[in-house]
Amino acid sequence: MRTVIYYFTGTGNSLAAARKIAGALGDCKVVPIASFADTAGTVAPQIGRVGIVCPVYFAGLPAMVASFAERLDLTAANYVFSVVTHGGGGGSAALRQLDGILWKKVGKGLDAGFTVHMPGNYILMYESPAGEKRDRLLAAADADLERIAGQIRQETRLKLPNSPVTRIVKALTYPRFRSHVHGDDRKFTVTEGCTSCGTCARLCPAGNIEMVDGRPVWNHRCELCCGCIHLCPVEAIQAGKGTEGRQRYRHPDLAVADMEAQRGGEPAPEALLW
Ligand SMILES: Cc1cc2nc3c(=O)[nH]c(=O)nc-3n(C[C@H](O)[C@H](O)[C@H](O)COP(=O)(O)O)c2cc1C
Repeated sequence: MRTVIYYFTGTGNSLAAARKIAGALGDCKVVPIASFADTAGTVAPQIGRVGIVCPVYFAGLPAMVASFAERLDLTAANYVFSVVTHGGGGGSAALRQLDGILWKKVGKGLDAGFTVHMPGNYILMYESPAGEKRDRLLAAADADLERIAGQIRQETRLKLPNSPVTRIVKALTYPRFRSHVHGDDRKFTVTEGCTSCGTCARLCPAGNIEMVDGRPVWNHRCELCCGCIHLCPVEAIQAGKGTEGRQRYRHPDLAVADMEAQRGGEPAPEALLW
């Protein structure tokens, strides 16, 4: 295997991005970061090219991705890249956060970092774009990903993007996000429409949802990926009045089963875990 891409996703954008890059590179394994969540210790892939693909949360990294990056020893890698997907901004600060974590661990950071604009999925605050607007965004993202995959194939070394405004946004919003994120599921409720199918419990990348008497119960290890809200087949999960009636989103190339495989599927390959 020439390349490994570690990914985290809530609604499929980042997994679709990881798969597109993997397809363009060939000889590449795409591995869910969530599959390492119940393991401990250093992750030291003995692979030349390593990528991390994930969404931007509050101009920073999802908590699970930050924790995973702290466990990564990329001494054996000769090219390390990251692609962050976002709904409109904040990518440069997330990439810089990841770079800083990797530097701290082994004195070696990202060789290249890329941001890709995709439909925003933070349903607690806004509705995801739909219809033609969504399709235009995804078509532009595909074109970006093709170009990015070309640069990764060439192992192009790039200065990370930088934006003072984004740094300020991160400083103002990310610390609060990190200190509250796991308990933010206290806002989540389920309506009478719930069919007890258990999809939410199977797809939660944090393994945070338990079915009790046929209803989901959130156990305060939430990553706030919003997967349970977006992917419930009967839209029975809400987070306050704001999410009622808001259109749900899933990357159109992916099935709910793809998100379920993030945690419930194959365990982390032994060869990538030390
Ligand atoms: C908790 C949360 C926070 C988010 N914060 C940002 C942000 O700061 N900037 C942004 O552009 N998009 C933000 N988004 C949108 C996602 O980054 C974007 O939709 C991403 O592509 C979702 O990827 P996924 O489908 O792989 O989960 C946020 C989404 C969530 C759920």
